[in-house]
Amino acid sequence: MEKPNKHILVCTSCRLNGVQKGACFSKNAVEIVDSFLTAIEDEGLSDEVMVSNTGCFNMCTQGPIAVVYPDNIWYGHVTPEVAERIVKEHILEGKVVDEFVIEED
Ligand code: FES
Repeated sequence: MEKPNKHILVCTSCRLNGVQKGACFSKNAVEIVDSFLTAIEDEGLSDEVMVSNTGCFNMCTQGPIAVVYPDNIWYGHVTPEVAERIVKEHILEGKVVDEFVIEED
């Protein structure tokens, strides 16, 4: 795989010791990673889009969190259905899924 055009970072509350334990993990973040991967594969984007699980983004109350780079768009309250919408609408069509974007204070 070459460098991806888009990189989706999903908080699964992964800690430095590899243990996943925390807010996003408790809200099914691992299932959300799987939803992103499935949607990306279904859309034939596996060579262009990478998904990685991460540790805490320090926005736990708005979790699960997914961040799309290089766009620097932060999504909150992500569900498997929202993950599918992010792939279809944001990644494929270039339209940010506004209702789930985390606004800056
Ligand atoms: S555990 Fe996911 S943002 Fe904190």
